[in-house]
Amino acid sequence: MSPRTPVARIAATSRYLPERVLTNADLEDMVDTSDAWIRERTGIRERRIADDDTGAAAMGAQAACGALQKAGLSARDVDLLIVSTATPDRLLPTTSCAIQAMIGASRCFAYDLQAACTGFLYALTMAEGQIASGRAENVLIVSTEKMSTIVDWDDRATCILFGDGAGAAVVQPSTNGEGILSSYHSSDGSLAELITRPAGGAALALTPERLRRREHMLQMSGPAVFKAAVKAMAGASAKAMQAAGLEADDIDLLVPHQANARIIEATARYARVPMDRVFVNLHRYGNISSATIPVGLDEAVEQGRIGPGSHILMAAFGAGLTWGAMAMRW
Ligand code: UT7
Repeated sequence: MSPRTPVARIAATSRYLPERVLTNADLEDMVDTSDAWIRERTGIRERRIADDDTGAAAMGAQAACGALQKAGLSARDVDLLIVSTATPDRLLPTTSCAIQAMIGASRCFAYDLQAACTGFLYALTMAEGQIASGRAENVLIVSTEKMSTIVDWDDRATCILFGDGAGAAVVQPSTNGEGILSSYHSSDGSLAELITRPAGGAALALTPERLRRREHMLQMSGPAVFKAAVKAMAGASAKAMQAAGLEADDIDLLVPHQANARIIEATARYARVPMDRVFVNLHRYGNISSATIPVGLDEAVEQGRIGPGSHILMAAFGAGLTWGAMAMRW
């Protein structure tokens, strides 16, 4: 496949992280775990937790306003608003419509996209398609996750992993050859049981018994997800690099989904990208699901690790299973 001419680029990014910090030491008081185990097995040191009255839409709106401001746009300039979230404020209507109302993006159409931790990359591809078709010029992507509301705080195998936060990106038509060079996405619904919230939807309505058994909370087969994640992210990264005509040496920064430091290291090893060219902020935020990549992009730009002309590779995986990778010239 020959590299395509970019049609869409990220014009600006922003992020919102709640102020409250939950450290590994705090978790030692909550479940049978230790700071040493969490750091060694995951790389996480602390994560952010939103207040009770701050939902996914409120966090997302903060990130959205920051990205619009940096892009020099007003909310009324937005043609399309895509919100990726696994933790919608309510099941109906969408979190995207809530954010639309909060920020005053009155001209756009807005929808939620659910692809768990891969949501930002799926959304970026949807934005690219709308721009390519001429239907939209200013697309706002918001990835916002209040993972603390779906985590079972008595389950040490999962509660140590996740945090809350939001990232946003403004996507616009490419102007000078910068933008998305390639993308590879995939999903496998036969592996749905590896990460799931079984109850609370249309199939298994909430009952007192299901609530008591916490079937509405996140359940995960950690080691099986770990293996699937490495395979998926490594494979997708190789395909995205090949489709973009890029070698590992060409990649200025790999911005991977932040789930586990060992998954990130294995992905980088397979992609042959040395760790000094891999963005990692997992130790500070834990896994913020689909918000990890836009938050990472925003911090990397701020730190000068991404600038005009940089070649970046993004890779993610999550519940579904879903996964993907994208190469981009900044
Ligand atoms: O965005 C996608 C979301 N999901 C992921 O990315 C998760 C991918 N998986 C992982 O990151 C890892 O599998 C975990 C971090 C979840 C677990 O690490 P692991 O090295 O795969 O540990 P394990 O599940 O195989 O458990 C090893 C031991 C077990 O004890 P025994 O049976 O050997 O006695 C667990 O009970 O560690 C125990 N354990 C813990 N010990 C202390 C599990 N969780 C904890 C904990 N503190 N928090």
